[in-house]
Amino acid sequence: MNLQTNYMGLVLKNPLIVSSSALTNGVEKIKKLEAAGAGAVVLKSLFEEQIAYESNHLDNSMAGDYPEAYDYIKSYTRNNSVSDYVKLVREIKSSVSIPIIASIHCYSSEEWVGIARELQSAGADALELNINVLNTDKHGNCNDVEEKYYHIVKQVAKAVSIPVSVKIGSQFSNLVAVVKNIYASGAKGVVVFNRFFQPDIDIEKMTMISAEVFSSPNDYVQSLRWVAILSGQLKGSLLQYCSPDIEIGIENAKNLARIKIFQHPQKSGLEIVAHESLQHILDAFIPLTTPSKRLSFKENRLMTILHHAGAHLGDNHYDNIMQVLDVISKFSDHQAYQLAQELQGNKVSFI
Ligand SMILES: Cc1cc2nc3c(=O)[nH]c(=O)nc-3n(C[C@H](O)[C@H](O)[C@H](O)COP(=O)(O)O)c2cc1C
Repeated sequence: MNLQTNYMGLVLKNPLIVSSSALTNGVEKIKKLEAAGAGAVVLKSLFEEQIAYESNHLDNSMAGDYPEAYDYIKSYTRNNSVSDYVKLVREIKSSVSIPIIASIHCYSSEEWVGIARELQSAGADALELNINVLNTDKHGNCNDVEEKYYHIVKQVAKAVSIPVSVKIGSQFSNLVAVVKNIYASGAKGVVVFNRFFQPDIDIEKMTMISAEVFSSPNDYVQSLRWVAILSGQLKGSLLQYCSPDIEIGIENAKNLARIKIFQHPQKSGLEIVAHESLQHILDAFIPLTTPSKRLSFKENRLMTILHHAGAHLGDNHYDNIMQVLDVISKFSDHQAYQLAQELQGNKVSFI
């Protein structure tokens, strides 16, 4: 089955994107992920704190606000640097052919703008911003936190030409509005949801420990719910964020099409032919989708076309129908017309 898809303008052979973690921090691991069929990989994040450390900006005040991260980052940064990360991107790009998405974890600093450019130059196909602004200011305003997200996205999206996605947590008072504003700030994708470090208490030793980091199979329902709510939210609204010239230009083009093209008798004629052609093609192919069907000679020939197009029908009727629709939807108008003619015996058949 052809699972090719498009993610932020990147062509993926399938929609399976391996999320950022320790599984994605080395060339050999990513080669294995590619060999196992991954459609794309998001690299282990480069932490903003790493960037700060390299620039000697690691701020001790952070120890108060993010103590666990501070300790962790201090040791981590000793061994990992921005230049290592950029080098890693280069090496991976020369070793695999699937798209590679670099990842930056950020919460405040401006340093990542320059880094984003470097990652683009190193060959990253896209950039994922893993943003986590932890608001602990009791005098603060909810909007202040969200504005930080938009600010980061705007700065980075302006600095690079590769697509930028933003990975967020689930806790916002109005997630739909936040996602809309992240897109409006220049992101091409939003990843829902990140799983943040959570502290727990070991009651035997009365010490703080890290809570379970792995998700359980049922956790997917939260993302499922929000993907369902979020999808479609932006339909038709992106133009609102463009300059008026663009909106006027597109409206003029649409009017021109409405008056000159859509109403033209030749266009109406073509539409009727296309409709008829599709009907003939569906009538011919859909009966083949019944599992274990005995095929006539003609149906056998049609099955050959499906095989050539990469479809392999099995015992699942629904899956068979989806495969056939997948093949048919890839026909060009010309191919569909030719095939419909052949199916009706109006033309010498190649099937
Ligand atoms: C051990 C571990 C390390 C992770 N490291 C990163 C990271 O560096 N950058 C990032 O954006 N997400 C990181 N994540 C989050 C995952 O990429 C993923 O978004 C999150 O775990 C949610 O997916 P899940 O519910 O399948 O676990 C990490 C997750 C785990 C469990």
